[in-house]
Amino acid sequence: MTERAPVGVFDSGLGGLTVVRSLLDLVPDEPVLYFGDSGRFPYGPKPRDEVLKYAIEIGDLLVDQGAWLVVVACNSAAAAALDTLASRLTVPVVGVIEPGLRAALRVSESRRIGIIGTVGTIASGAYQRVAARLDPTLELVCAACPGFVEFVEAGDVDSDQVHILAERLLAPVRAKDVDTLVLGCTHYPLLARTIGDVMGRDVVLVSSADETAFTVREMLSRGPDAAGPPARPRFVTSGDPAQFRRLGARFLGPEVQAVEAWSWS
Ligand code: DGL
Repeated sequence: MTERAPVGVFDSGLGGLTVVRSLLDLVPDEPVLYFGDSGRFPYGPKPRDEVLKYAIEIGDLLVDQGAWLVVVACNSAAAAALDTLASRLTVPVVGVIEPGLRAALRVSESRRIGIIGTVGTIASGAYQRVAARLDPTLELVCAACPGFVEFVEAGDVDSDQVHILAERLLAPVRAKDVDTLVLGCTHYPLLARTIGDVMGRDVVLVSSADETAFTVREMLSRGPDAAGPPARPRFVTSGDPAQFRRLGARFLGPEVQAVEAWSWS
């Protein structure tokens, strides 16, 4: 029996596994090919052109490997490269920015929405552009949160230090009285408790991971017809496979088994 073409998903490293978690929960029989560019992590502080180049390389790689759909699970990569990938690749491309904003629009009553992300994501203006298209009356309050990703990578999601940093970085968003906050970075859902404590109970936190999975499910009717057996997800990294496997369990769970190495050279 022929193998079904996978949904290709990529991120700068492990964070996009939060999107894979949502995909496996929502469409468990869909084969997933995940590429984590851990060897070139992080993307958030890098110039846009560099992230764009990386995203193009990975998009091409996933299509070469047979992906029928490419999910840009990294906010920083989506902010820098989504439009380019959508016009360049021969398969549909889904990012995390629009699904996250759509979810926020559904829950926000005040139409004043906070967006937090990496320096690259916030500086790109990508959320502002998509928001203006979806609803020009929306007021966005955007804040970069440098340091959050590093805490999550170090396994620290609720220490006093991360709390103090969150108080400082989120203060401008709190001051604007938003009723909804989009976690515009793959790593931030893991900080949801700390972020929620700082923002207060009245602010709804929105993670784009689930919304992106819903978008993928809607696109399945456009996917390959060949009905093959359910396949295990495949994980490839440009970093250290052993470390990817160990830390991957934190972002995704026990499904991270064999991890393949990839070298860009
Ligand atoms: N995956 C990135 C994002 O969602 C966070 C980590 C990084 O800076 O590469 O923006």
